[in-house]
Amino acid sequence: MPSRRAFAGLLTAGAGLAALTACTPDGPSPSPAGASATPSGAGSSPTPTQVTAVTPAAAAEPSSAPPSQAAAKQFSLTDPASPWVVVNKHRPLNPQNYVPADLVQPNIRLAVTGEATLMNSTTAAAAEKMFGAAAAEGVIMALASGYRSYSTQVTTYNGYVTNSGQIGADRASARPGHSEHQTGWSFDIADGGGACSFQPCFAEQPAAIWAKANAHQFGFIVRYPWMFHETTGYFYESWHLRYIGVEAATEMNTRGIATLEEYFGLEAAPDYL
Ligand code: DAL
Ligand code: ZN
Repeated sequence: MPSRRAFAGLLTAGAGLAALTACTPDGPSPSPAGASATPSGAGSSPTPTQVTAVTPAAAAEPSSAPPSQAAAKQFSLTDPASPWVVVNKHRPLNPQNYVPADLVQPNIRLAVTGEATLMNSTTAAAAEKMFGAAAAEGVIMALASGYRSYSTQVTTYNGYVTNSGQIGADRASARPGHSEHQTGWSFDIADGGGACSFQPCFAEQPAAIWAKANAHQFGFIVRYPWMFHETTGYFYESWHLRYIGVEAATEMNTRGIATLEEYFGLEAAPDYL
């Protein structure tokens, strides 16, 4: 569990983040390993190629108990084209200049333009379903930041360093080559009215509340949950969603597993090596 000291640090960083308006971009590339699989889950199953068979927790590096049910469908934890790729401060993208082959612009409400409107095709299809379901319940959700190339992440990360210094930047933005946004499996959401975008108070906005409760039904998790920065390396980002497939996301929700690191039995990655 996070220490009181870490908690104090989080509050400090949160206050700093409130002053930022930019998002947190990312970086690139795959590194394979074995067989392929087809995650099941109702409807929005990914269809990765050339991925290594992995069992959550029994993967290549795992040491803890793996996911049970979702284990039936296995994907690589290293191939950026895999819905289960785990990218963090210990696990950079491989190759570093990875670019998803199937980037598309989803038919959803956009709060950005250009490259940031893109995501991989599987994630885009799931996002369309999720945004539609939220809207049907009266919750307006907008896309605040999707795909980010390696070069975009360079600009984004450097912007954080300029505004907050390197220590502050590393708590909120991935260094180039270490961002999930470069995989096309992640995106940031905003509220319909744009309130609190990329700020701690976004957690109390309708879009964030709805996503936290329902995103798993569409294959998404809130990748950087509250108080798990010592595992994920980042403070709470209520806006950052990551697609892993309906089955795995639902299993994490059901079992109360908050992070991909724990789900797949991987080491915590609080800092860069
Ligand atoms: N904000 C997340 C950690 C990123 O930059 O990818
Ligand atoms: Zn993000």
